Amino acid sequence: MASFARVSGSVGLITLQNPPVNALSFAVRQGIVDKVKRALSEPEVKCVVICGQNGVFCGGADIKEFRGPMFGPPLVPMIHDIEAATKPVVAAIEGSAFGGGLELALGCHYRIAHSKTRLGLPEVTLGLLPAAGGSQRLPRLIGVPAALDLITTGRHVTAAEALQLGIVDQVTDHNTVDAAVKFALSVAVFFSPGKPLDARRISMYPCGLSSDLDDFFEKAMQKVCRGARGAIAPIACVQAVRAAATLPYAQGIEKEKELMDTLFASGQARALQYCFFAQRAVGKWSMPSGACWDTSKTRPVHKTAVIGLGTMGRGIAVALAQAGFPVIAVESHKKQLMEAKEAISGMLVRAAKRRGVTPVLNKITYSPNMQSVANADLVIEAVFEDMALKEKVFQQLSGICKPGTLLCTNTSGLNIDHLASQFRNPELVVGMHFFAPAHVMKLLEVVYGPRSSPEAVATAMTLGKKIGKVSVAVGNCQGFVGNRMLEHYLEQALFLLEEGGTPELIDQALEEFGFAMGVFRMSDLSGLDVGWRIRKAKGLAVPDPTTGQTARVHQGRRYSPVADLICEQGRFGQKTGQGWYQYDKPGSRVGKPDPWVHSFLEAYRARHGLVARRIDQQEVLERCLYSLINEGFRILEDGIAAGPENIDIIYVFGYSWPRHRGGPMFYAHLVGLPKILERLEHYHQAHPDVPTLQPCNLLRKLVASGSPPIQKWKEVMKRLDSRL
Ligand code: NAI
Repeated sequence: MASFARVSGSVGLITLQNPPVNALSFAVRQGIVDKVKRALSEPEVKCVVICGQNGVFCGGADIKEFRGPMFGPPLVPMIHDIEAATKPVVAAIEGSAFGGGLELALGCHYRIAHSKTRLGLPEVTLGLLPAAGGSQRLPRLIGVPAALDLITTGRHVTAAEALQLGIVDQVTDHNTVDAAVKFALSVAVFFSPGKPLDARRISMYPCGLSSDLDDFFEKAMQKVCRGARGAIAPIACVQAVRAAATLPYAQGIEKEKELMDTLFASGQARALQYCFFAQRAVGKWSMPSGACWDTSKTRPVHKTAVIGLGTMGRGIAVALAQAGFPVIAVESHKKQLMEAKEAISGMLVRAAKRRGVTPVLNKITYSPNMQSVANADLVIEAVFEDMALKEKVFQQLSGICKPGTLLCTNTSGLNIDHLASQFRNPELVVGMHFFAPAHVMKLLEVVYGPRSSPEAVATAMTLGKKIGKVSVAVGNCQGFVGNRMLEHYLEQALFLLEEGGTPELIDQALEEFGFAMGVFRMSDLSGLDVGWRIRKAKGLAVPDPTTGQTARVHQGRRYSPVADLICEQGRFGQKTGQGWYQYDKPGSRVGKPDPWVHSFLEAYRARHGLVARRIDQQEVLERCLYSLINEGFRILEDGIAAGPENIDIIYVFGYSWPRHRGGPMFYAHLVGLPKILERLEHYHQAHPDVPTLQPCNLLRKLVASGSPPIQKWKEVMKRLDSRL
């Protein structure tokens, strides 16, 4: 809806009304069209101000309307009519002007913004482009390079930057609507009838580029393609801006529409929009007890503590301090404590410099003594991944922490329930599984055990939000959600090496799919020794007593010792300068294919009588991704994740799964469940000694239920459950 009022005698004030962000729904668009018509027809009205109610101009299109056919007035002619108006129209921008909201403002003749406003064209993040004239007007207003940056990245700008770029004409610290009304009255005098507003109609501006056009766009396209990882929307954005720079406005608008139609119909736009809603949905979920964490009250957290200042503890301390929490940072190893202090200070100073703020060095107090955490409301334990050590730390903390302290562990996979049993208040123990580097990576798995109270889960989830994480609550099991699924992906990659693949062939397939790094490049980066230590602790990676060679079968199922053998050579990845790839020197980041690895694989195959065969990209993708997806279905079946969107958000934010493919479970829905089932059956038949390739029951049941769309899986699962 939109309201109309005449203010200050001759100003027609149109107010967008659609809480919470005044999205441009059918009713709002209709309201704008009607009220603009009225303002232009009333002779008393000399000028118009458009604003949004409740301090927000407009958050953009109503994404819910993307799901079906669009009704009501389309945006392009609506904005065109505003621009063509014979009375000056001023946008009074408060809060935010995103997407269609900014495009609406660009159709106005002037833009006045409050100093706290943020503006941007984030359509690209939803797999789309600004197709209400934004891709054609913004380059005409602020120049091609600046517009290209905003449109292809979707980044938001502050009012100050918007003023500097020329997106807005004035910034105010006072009441924006009052300022806009005053401004409108002054320009109304200037643009008295007969004096055309052409000079304020952006679509009539030239859009020239002084440099060589072809060269400029070729370079821009190369840069965008490098970062797009297979996403098509950023590329379409470049094409649209190129149209603005090379075609008359009307033809540019046609091109914009043509590109938008292609994007709109693509699976990528659906995947990105799914992620948008999934990210919001994962915050709301109930524990199996039926208690809903997000309605449960939270414990107050003022003082925090981190125990163990290694890789993870340092990042966690930085994340907490940057969010304003006082942190007591405990490290038992003296040298490590000194190093951590220096490293953490460096991280805080660098981050503050980037943000243009003062570093919060005084938020962190360092101590070698566990007693120092006595007053903390919440403690995060990040000592070595060793159950005996963690048990000891939990027992010690039972005697140190004040009553009511929440104890969180950053374990990557140890049993949370067992750890909870070592603490005085097991109901106040939850996992807070951060990802490295903890101050950068957005994902936080909040792991609850059978005894964790909803209040404890709620507190951890809320803290996660406060420190800027995307928090997903998951149940307690080996590896939780992310690492449990990843194990199957890694395992298939190793089997593929045994069967004839190379690290670069497998990585290339995964990188072309959209992962930032293939599995082997990723392992080299995080260090191969970590997994080796874990496998040895599990009794894997040990020589077969009869042959003396590392066993290739474990408890009746296939096991690949290839990674263990690589580690035995002291090849731990980037840190040693050699791993699956070779590096110029230890610590170097650019890996080259390594002939040693190829010869090693050949010798390994020869030793075990394996004949290398040609492995194509499709097999790499199907075996690695479908086995991971299969485990995702098992996780749903076990009730460890509340729904497919929880798994997808974990993969998008924690494992660099390409967002434009929507996460593994959404990808399964796009590919089609019958196809996933058929391929898993095929591979399981070919590899009967790999039980994890056997399609899980839930996948079979969903296919038998007619392969419902992902949005219906939970419903079908409930029905299937109640029939048991
Ligand atoms: P790390 O080896 O880098 O650091 C552990 C630190 O704990 C060391 O500085 C050690 O001196 C200290 N420490 C040991 N016992 C202590 C005690 N009693 N009191 C105080 N400090 C003590 O280990 P990292 O990689 O930081 O891992 C920590 C935890 O986080 C582990 O449970 C690990 O599984 C988990 N994790 C690790 C990830 C990674 O990528 N490194 C990712 C997610 C979780």
